[in-house]
Amino acid sequence: MRALVVGGGGREHALAMELHRAEAEVVAASPNANPGIERLARAMLRSDLVDPGPVVDFARRERVELAVVGPEAPLAAGLADALRAAEIPVVGPDRAAARIEWSKRFCRELMARHGVPGLPKFQSVTDLSELTSAVANLPGPFVVKPSGLTSGKGVWVQGSDFQTPDEGAVYARALLALPAGRDGLLLEEKLVGEEFSQMAFVTDSGIYPMPAVQDYKRALEGNLGGNTGGMGSYSQRDELLPFLSSDQRDRALDILRLSVAALRAEGLAYRGVLYGGFMLAPDGPKLIEFNARFGDPEALNVLSLYEPGDFAELMLGVATGRVDPNLVGFRQRATVVKYLVPVGYGSQPQPGATLELDETSIEELGVRLYFGAVEAAGAGRVKLTSSRGVALVGEASAIHEAHRRVESAIVFVKGSYYVRHDIGSPEDVAARVEHMRQLIAPGAKSSPLPLSVAAADAAPKSHGDATQVLTE
Ligand code: AMP
Ligand code: GLY
Repeated sequence: MRALVVGGGGREHALAMELHRAEAEVVAASPNANPGIERLARAMLRSDLVDPGPVVDFARRERVELAVVGPEAPLAAGLADALRAAEIPVVGPDRAAARIEWSKRFCRELMARHGVPGLPKFQSVTDLSELTSAVANLPGPFVVKPSGLTSGKGVWVQGSDFQTPDEGAVYARALLALPAGRDGLLLEEKLVGEEFSQMAFVTDSGIYPMPAVQDYKRALEGNLGGNTGGMGSYSQRDELLPFLSSDQRDRALDILRLSVAALRAEGLAYRGVLYGGFMLAPDGPKLIEFNARFGDPEALNVLSLYEPGDFAELMLGVATGRVDPNLVGFRQRATVVKYLVPVGYGSQPQPGATLELDETSIEELGVRLYFGAVEAAGAGRVKLTSSRGVALVGEASAIHEAHRRVESAIVFVKGSYYVRHDIGSPEDVAARVEHMRQLIAPGAKSSPLPLSVAAADAAPKSHGDATQVLTE
């Protein structure tokens, strides 16, 4: 089978790797020359991916039989529609169904219309005149977020990104005047708990869940700094998480199922991956956002564990709406992913540093390496851009052991970069379990929170003003 991978980050390197392992012939379209994908692909198209035309022409020329779209922007630009019109099966929904990601307002209103559980209180704001009443209608702490796509940036949370409702209103006002605020804003009740990502393959007849993952969104250790696309993540061998029970995960899966049914009821078919970003609150999982694609880094956790082997057949099944259930399976192992990023990533990334990689030693440790947005710079060397650079993935029977394995591999990467050593560490994971325990236990409010989690909820941080963050 000849398969097209769209996108050039770590997620797409992992997708290309799994397709290649399944003996698919890989071709790729991406805005950057990912050295890992380049090694595997028989042909590459350089494209910014916002214009479907050249990608479809390339797919036709290469006679691809399957396309897998990694990032959200091409889905929002209608690439899946255009590939389907050319009779190429695609993993990824059409633009109209991908709206569940590219318009947070649509997502919230869809859930409200169909009574999908797990919906936080929200107010939609499209112009300045609605702002004051929206703030007044959310009496507790709140969150300000642009409705449109901002790559995980742009969300400001009361108590960490701003302190008083007035400061939140000032940020909301600034956003409305920026391109990022063009599609309006949402003001939402601030949810408190632990976040987790739950992805599923969506077919015409149902969903097939992947293991749950916890992503670390904040740029700096201790969960400080700005929100990022994700600095790393872990998964547990039983597909749950240390703070997430089977019953709570089932409730999250119901939210995914009911949302797919809601889309269908509105005439929107969905063939692809649906990613739910959840907050586990004391009264159960609440939906923070949907993504119409694999998460990055989450894809690296789950794809490293893909078991049955024929990933290309699985992807073709998703693209055509009918999956053989025997093709869905994951090894019962824990994983930890850590991204090596440019110094300053999350606020003012400094591109250009050269990394020296000893890939053989990393491989000998059983740790997988995936390239993100880096440029090849000679044998064993890559140059960092301003995005996430190189991901290391460790697996083991327990999270802390997978963490230890990644840490032992990091010494084989030399150069100037930042990495969060706390991702998947025993101390951090224990703090998250304790955080949930305290939220659920009576009297939790007066108990001190473990430091690394408390910091995420409470510490003020400075990462520039709205204009700076959103024009990076
Ligand atoms: P999003 O782009 O919607 O995924 O939001 C980015 C991050 O902002 C999330 O991962 C959360 O950490 C935070 N966030 C978004 N919405 C809320 C909310 N309603 N309550 C608390 N935190 C939120
Ligand atoms: N890790 C979050 C995302 O892929 O959007």
